Amino acid sequence: MKDCSMTEAPRTNPFDTMLKAYLQWGEPVSRAFARAALDRAGLAPGSAVLDSCAGAGALAVAAAQEGHRVRGIDISAGMLGVLTERLTPFPGSAAEHMDALEMIYVDDSFDAAFSVLGVLNFGDAVPAALRGLVRVTRPGGVIGLVHWASTWGAPLFPMMAEAMTRLDDPAVAPLVPLVSDEYMGPAALDAALSQAGCVDVSTTVHEVANLLPEPEVAFDELDSMYLNHERYRALTDEQRSRLRGLFAEEVRAARGADGKGAPAVGHVTIGHLPQ
Ligand SMILES: C[S@@+](CC[C@H](N)C(=O)[O-])C[C@H]1O[C@@H](n2cnc3c(N)ncnc32)[C@H](O)[C@@H]1O
Repeated sequence: MKDCSMTEAPRTNPFDTMLKAYLQWGEPVSRAFARAALDRAGLAPGSAVLDSCAGAGALAVAAAQEGHRVRGIDISAGMLGVLTERLTPFPGSAAEHMDALEMIYVDDSFDAAFSVLGVLNFGDAVPAALRGLVRVTRPGGVIGLVHWASTWGAPLFPMMAEAMTRLDDPAVAPLVPLVSDEYMGPAALDAALSQAGCVDVSTTVHEVANLLPEPEVAFDELDSMYLNHERYRALTDEQRSRLRGLFAEEVRAARGADGKGAPAVGHVTIGHLPQ
């Protein structure tokens, strides 16, 4: 099974490890992308909505708040714990532990299926994952995908890459982007969803605000977000201690007066199933 953990050598689900940092520094960006996907999908009131690789529910919770009946699936126990709690006020909605590649839903279960920063990171299994979303969505339904517009993904990754380069230590290998370049751009995204069986497919680009921690605490705040990078995990205590100050400098340089760095840029792809 492929996963969308963007992990070079997965051992545990890294989203369990980074949960606290993700909720604070990652999810606001996801929420803004999810908002754009929901707006573009134009769902009818009370739709049955699937959020695949839902995490803590950036899209699922917004959809439930709008009155849709939502299923959010994920394989991270930590993410599912938060999502379950967040969906409790919405009786028609629930979180479920389910692999996006082995969904047990019957065909045509949903009016719409989404995946925000999810199944497009499945490597060779992306086509199978997209076919799965199409299978569980009814004829005339909608598929919505969100994917990064750069292989670095979130802007916090190139910042750490630069700090690691500035260690100027031959024993430290440069950080490399983990998002595949295969679905970078509207043409590739539109083709992927069309091949999965969608029509009337289109992709839009979205720039959203990206909050950054105070420079002095940024290393500790964001540390767990980098642990799915093997080269980051390989750093020694001495290297990490030197990196702390360099990273603070990168964050200081990147932060505007309002605490925001460069915007995060993503693509929202919407496709429709033939009637
Ligand atoms: C980058 S997070 C995105 C979470 C959420 N959609 C958001 O935008 O905040 C990717 C999520 O995919 C989940 N995931 C990874 N592989 C999965 C799989 N095979 N099936 C279901 N979920 C998976 C991870 O546990 C993680 O919560």
